[in-house]
Amino acid sequence: MLAVAILAAGQGTRMKSRLPKVLHDLGGHSLLERSLACTAGVAPARQIVVVGYEREWVQQSLDHLPHLEFVQQTEQRGTGHAVQQLIPHLQGFQGDVLVLNGDVPLLRTQTLELLLKTHREHHNAATLLTAQLSDAQGYGRVFCNQHNIVTQIVEDRDCTPGQRQNRKVNAGIYCFNWSALAEVLPKLRASNAQQEYYLTDTVSLLSPVMAVDVEDYQEILGINDRQQLSIAYGILQTRIKNNWMAAGVTLVDPSSITIDEAAQIASDVVIEPQTHIRGTTKIASGCRIGPGSLIENSEIGENTTILYSVVVDSIIQPDGRIGPYTHLRGQVQVGKGCRVGNFVELKNSKLGDRTNVAHLSYLGDTTVGERVNVGAGTITANYDGVKKHPTVIGDRTKTGANSVLVAPITVGSDVTIAAGSTVTEDVADDTLVIARARQVNKPGWQLNPNIVEDSSDT
Ligand code: UD1
Ligand code: MG
Repeated sequence: MLAVAILAAGQGTRMKSRLPKVLHDLGGHSLLERSLACTAGVAPARQIVVVGYEREWVQQSLDHLPHLEFVQQTEQRGTGHAVQQLIPHLQGFQGDVLVLNGDVPLLRTQTLELLLKTHREHHNAATLLTAQLSDAQGYGRVFCNQHNIVTQIVEDRDCTPGQRQNRKVNAGIYCFNWSALAEVLPKLRASNAQQEYYLTDTVSLLSPVMAVDVEDYQEILGINDRQQLSIAYGILQTRIKNNWMAAGVTLVDPSSITIDEAAQIASDVVIEPQTHIRGTTKIASGCRIGPGSLIENSEIGENTTILYSVVVDSIIQPDGRIGPYTHLRGQVQVGKGCRVGNFVELKNSKLGDRTNVAHLSYLGDTTVGERVNVGAGTITANYDGVKKHPTVIGDRTKTGANSVLVAPITVGSDVTIAAGSTVTEDVADDTLVIARARQVNKPGWQLNPNIVEDSSDT
């Protein structure tokens, strides 16, 4: 039987934040969510989170995981004290407990599997992950005999200068035989620089305790401050981007591109510099995205180009040409082979196939048919100051430059709207609409020659 306990009760003072450290975001998931996802991979029978600082906030953030058990640590008196809180909760539990600090978000499930395998094969009382770090500052140093049997862990601030030379560090990820651990937990003393009960002190009271060195030290980086958070983000991004490049995606200047883990990108997509792919975005083969674009929770069909644009919560069918400077938001659906941009905003609108909205337009709450040409500067006035109203434009209709369609309004198919029209009434199919004041020309007219204008300061 395996239980997982994640220590998430600390404030994380080094983050200098009101937000509990474990709720800080790393690429779309909190540190804590990442630990939980990683441990879920080893299929534990129980997943427990030790909460304390801003307990309700932390629990609320995990509402979507109803199987979690929460154990409260009212005062945060160290990692050993946190695990002591499990004793009544795990009364009678037989088996191993995987204990993880909630601030180690880059860990891989395979590494936990290796930890568990070693623990069980050797019948250890405890097994822990270690790494050799060139900069071990802030980490507990692990002292072992030649068989990787741990004799002691000394926290950085409790180390003598000699001990500090040891670069083998404690990752804060342990597998314990629960009954052995439960027996020694009450023996912990807070006789150290921080006057805290250290979980790491249990290793000197248990036997045998074995260290497992991780192959990739980056996996065990602990997040204690904002700088470490940004380093972890960089590592995560490198992992993601290398995977996509290996899968046939071209990233032009990868260091200026960010891609969320949940995104899916087909082979033969080119992502240009300063482009950010967020959320559950899916990009089909042959697309060229960027430079300078943000695509979030959107689906982009094959062979679409998107240039200097923002696309959020939207779907674009194949062969689109989007941008430069297009903003799609609020569930926009763009049909096949459409051209959208320059300087066009679409909100909660649908474009039929081969429709163009090519220059300087705003369409909100609008349904546009196929092969429509939305002329430069066409605006749907969808908001009356209180409510939003819909606009419908039929197939093959052409709106003239600078038309305003005042919603709610329905314009039929094969309609032509004259430039500069303000259309307030519905229009039937096959109609020419001219909704503007007729031009008045007054021939032979000139300013009164007796009035001499002073134009010196105009
Ligand atoms: C800890 C280890 C150190 C290890 C490092 C790895 C101890 C004493 N030290 O140090 O050996 O190298 O992690 O990253 O364990 N927490 C509680 N309750 C508390 C205190 C902490 O739940 O009373 C939680 C925190 O929320 C955090 C985790 O335990 O998620 C670790 O605490 P932190 O203060 O970051 O420990 P480190 O100083 O990093
Ligand atoms: Mg830490």
